[in-house]
Amino acid sequence: MDTQKKKQVKKMKFKMAFIGFGVVGQGLAEILVEKKDWLQKEHGFEYDVVAISDMKHGSVYLPEGLDVNKVLDMVENGKSLDEYPQGETGWEPLKTIMESNADVIVEVTYTDMETGGPALEHVREALKAKKHVVSTNKGPVATHGRELVELASKNGVHYLFEGTVVSGTPVINLARSTLAGCDIKEIKGIVNGTTNYILSQMEEGMEYEDALAQAQELGYAEADPTGDVEGIDAQGKIQILSNMVMGGELKLNDVERDGITGITLDDVKEAKKEDMRWKLVGSTMKTDSGIKAKVGPEKLPLTHPLANVMGPTNALTFSTDLLGDVTIIGPGAGKKETGFSLLVDLLELNGNMEG
Ligand SMILES: NC(=O)c1ccc[n+]([C@@H]2O[C@H](COP(=O)([O-])OP(=O)(O)OC[C@H]3O[C@@H](n4cnc5c(N)ncnc54)[C@H](OP(=O)(O)O)[C@@H]3O)[C@@H](O)[C@H]2O)c1
Repeated sequence: MDTQKKKQVKKMKFKMAFIGFGVVGQGLAEILVEKKDWLQKEHGFEYDVVAISDMKHGSVYLPEGLDVNKVLDMVENGKSLDEYPQGETGWEPLKTIMESNADVIVEVTYTDMETGGPALEHVREALKAKKHVVSTNKGPVATHGRELVELASKNGVHYLFEGTVVSGTPVINLARSTLAGCDIKEIKGIVNGTTNYILSQMEEGMEYEDALAQAQELGYAEADPTGDVEGIDAQGKIQILSNMVMGGELKLNDVERDGITGITLDDVKEAKKEDMRWKLVGSTMKTDSGIKAKVGPEKLPLTHPLANVMGPTNALTFSTDLLGDVTIIGPGAGKKETGFSLLVDLLELNGNMEG
């Protein structure tokens, strides 16, 4: 494997612009700093971060490349990037995308699952300008994924989004590359860590409200937990799998949805007596009448592989014609874990580049 990598031709040096620089953007930046030499040696991957444009942390553009350590230090110490000592500051995302010398846009802003915006515009304009996009932002993929992939292909660039479903745990790439020769009939699993954590704590005897409060304290759940506990986050991920892996054309509301707020501690205890366990399960399957997808609580026997996935961990089972069931289990969120998904996308771009 190593020998094969060392034979690689010298690749181009990527010029990257971050649109959004919150948890995930900073996670990728930290990985890029920590692994800089290794990435160059092992993968011939070289980069400059030329721009960052973030609503909260400010914006800076330096065509010859920013000092990423310095940027991370500024953000950690609550300083706006508008105070960076060199370059131009105050550029909005679209100006950064269109007018910077970046050839890769890292889109890691906020997600609106109904419209895809404002990230949709960032991704679309970048692809129109023949710039690659790597992104963990679910909105644009869920609402306009096919259109954006076609636009990228027409313009000779790539739109990659491994981290949109279960973070850095390989799912999109697994289906697209590694399982490419199989017909995937169904994908089913646990795609929301917050609800799995809450249900796991209820399994230990905790009331729903206490488990939710604990999830919030640990940073697994947001102050407004609606998106997670009502199954909307999982619905978006199942929509992405339905459209981008299974070939469907589903709108968000075509994915039937129910959350976990109706599950009581008594329900969990009753299930336990029957050697069963409640899980929030998302699934998408091929049927004679098209792709059918849903998210909702399911009572699974303890012998079921998904029943034993506990805490914030995620898992997906791919039911295939040639291999039978293939299950992948791993983290579904986190700074480094999601930053890693972008690194995978960047390395895929790197593999696609001629020296
Ligand atoms: N965190 C995870 O584990 C994870 C896992 C998978 C996928 N994702 C997805 O990855 C994306 C980034 O997540 P995150 O955890 O890094 O979120 P985050 O910490 O909230 O960071 C997003 C950053 O983007 C900024 N921003 C929002 N809208 C913007 C706009 N229109 N233009 C410029 N900057 C904008 C935000 O500023 P304000 O704070 O001022 O809005 C914030 O600084 C989201 O779409 C999320 O759903 C996250």
